[in-house]
Amino acid sequence: MTGPLLQRLEGVRACVFDAYGTLFDFASAASRAIDVPEDKRAALTALWRDKQLQYTWLRSLQNRYVDFRQVTGEALDFALETLGLDASLHEKLMDLYLGLEPFPEVPTVLRTLRASGFRTAILSNGSPAMLDALVSRAGLADAFDAVLSVDAVGVFKTHPKAYQYALDTLRLPARAISFQSSNAWDAYAASDFGMRVVWCNRYGQRRERLPGAPDFEIGTLAELPVLLGVSG
Ligand code: LAC
Repeated sequence: MTGPLLQRLEGVRACVFDAYGTLFDFASAASRAIDVPEDKRAALTALWRDKQLQYTWLRSLQNRYVDFRQVTGEALDFALETLGLDASLHEKLMDLYLGLEPFPEVPTVLRTLRASGFRTAILSNGSPAMLDALVSRAGLADAFDAVLSVDAVGVFKTHPKAYQYALDTLRLPARAISFQSSNAWDAYAASDFGMRVVWCNRYGQRRERLPGAPDFEIGTLAELPVLLGVSG
């Protein structure tokens, strides 16, 4: 059966968002670092992010959790060295990482969802201090019912414990949660875990060949409210 009403997510009570790359633009750290040569900023962003994610997965496999601030700092050191950039840029870039810019549609979308009765939350690998800084520097402190860090369970996404933490905290079954992530690997894993998933494919990624199947794919979060039956 088809039809506009059946194209929506029914029964969702809470919208849970990934942070980095989904709500906040991780490229805005290197792009605002005036001491990083302009022609190296894109490469720095990409390598820093790739290494950061690899370290989360590897540490989770090895059962060697440290918080995301340490992982992010170590990934940055790797990237700076690889690109021949000065190690002294570390401190400035880590500070910029605490104040990443939200994507332009984010404040309005969060307000719209809350005004329509949805609970809103972040579920991120970010440490509690990193997430608090992000949210408050962006002026979004009152836009969320909960800001959840996987630090509470001591393992990074895509471990099922990370997704389970959102269910336990929000006291909702997986099917009552719509999870939004721009990271394909995260979107597929949350879907495999049982959440409803909207893959916000900002970066034009290919689909993963992994367990899970996101319910919807959108280009920006501005397309989310209508999927939840919210107009305007
Ligand atoms: C997060 C990263 C992995 O916010 O995007 O969890």
